[in-house]
Amino acid sequence: MTVACEYRPGLEGIPATQSSISYVDGQNGILEYRGINIEELAQSSTFIETAYLLIWGGLPTEDELEEFKHEIQFHRRLKYRIRDMMKCFPESGHPMDALQACAAALGLFYSRRALDDPAYIRAAVVRLLAKIPTMVAAFQLMRKGNDPIQPRDDLGYSANFLYMLTERVPDPLAAHIFDVCLTLHAEHTINASTFSAMVTASTLTDPYAVIASAVGTLAGPLHGGASEEVILMLEEIGSVANVEPYVDQCMERRSKIMGFGHRVYKVKDPRATILQRMAEQMFEQFGSDHYYDIAVKLEQVVADRMGSKGIYPNVDFYSGLVYRKLGIPTDLYTPVFAIARVAGWLAHWKEQLNENRIFRPTQIYTGTHSVPFVPLEKRHSAQDRDMYANLITP
Ligand code: SDX
Repeated sequence: MTVACEYRPGLEGIPATQSSISYVDGQNGILEYRGINIEELAQSSTFIETAYLLIWGGLPTEDELEEFKHEIQFHRRLKYRIRDMMKCFPESGHPMDALQACAAALGLFYSRRALDDPAYIRAAVVRLLAKIPTMVAAFQLMRKGNDPIQPRDDLGYSANFLYMLTERVPDPLAAHIFDVCLTLHAEHTINASTFSAMVTASTLTDPYAVIASAVGTLAGPLHGGASEEVILMLEEIGSVANVEPYVDQCMERRSKIMGFGHRVYKVKDPRATILQRMAEQMFEQFGSDHYYDIAVKLEQVVADRMGSKGIYPNVDFYSGLVYRKLGIPTDLYTPVFAIARVAGWLAHWKEQLNENRIFRPTQIYTGTHSVPFVPLEKRHSAQDRDMYANLITP
């Protein structure tokens, strides 16, 4: 097969799909979901309404929204077998691994696969949006040796999650801010985890496998896992005075500063701007956090030294500071990201099914050809092997 275009590592700039779900203008720091600016959604919408918008393609009417919320509320509980399975997970395991296993396990309970049946699609969407937060909260309580607590029907989506996690009904401002965080993280075009979901979806496998593969991809420190790394980095820096030497050291070692840089944004990520505002609101209401002063100084120093390369805070930079103030443990930041991103993954799953063709790109082969098979008894050291390889390399 002839190669159609040059190889670009990380597929940078190469369109892999067509989509009407979201739009990013990386030069001007603009993000839209279904054409609506993220600032407006953060201000006026809720996470569940935004999820509806992303997945079904338009804002719901009052009745449609009520029905959607009601369905999700009804499906929040976990089957006891899932809870039993979670009891066997090691307490020291990362919650993203637990979540990936639980998401995949849903496929065991809902094994019918009818991808052309709208009722099946709706049920899968509702189940995943409903159960993923319960799984995250249940794992948190179980690893502390406690029984998970049941969801409360009188609490909204975000307040209920914080309640299941902390065993306390949250302050309304805290619940609202958390809900805005979910809206901000719900979707972001064809990022790594969404691409992973789409590739999995394109094989026409079940939606639980699609979400499980996306959860696994989100977990990495270059993607959703960066929010945890940011807090660890702020802890390591320790004080505002240490910021400049820390940045110098990173530049010298060419190591990445977590929560900065983006493949698409060459200015500050608009979500980071909103998250920073919300962090400030949290500190005003619930008390300050000295890590915030370190973060602000870090943003300034990185902008001075790397701004010309387009390195600015991304979505993961300020989110951890908000979650910290909400009392969420550091290793749950990425699972919280996943709770939100399920909406985007599901929207892309549906879009992929509408016009599916299995993903099967090509590659540029860099190996050798016509290598003779060497019987085991005649094989020698690695050095010999290299010598043989050089002899036969074209
Ligand atoms: C998310 O894609 C999405 O939409 C993802 C996301 C979403 O909503 O789904 O927005 C969520 O994943 C946010 C990103 C979280 N990751 C981090 O914060 C980890 C730190 N950042 C990076 O490693 C990096 O910026 C990436 C992974 C985000 C982007 O990687 P790219 O596009 O492959 O860029 P690169 O690593 O090739 O860097 C290009 C240049 C390099 O310099 P040069 O070698 O050209 O001189 O920019 C430099 C890099 O060294 N650079 C950084 C840097 N990020 C890029 N230098 C220091 N610190 C950084 N963080």
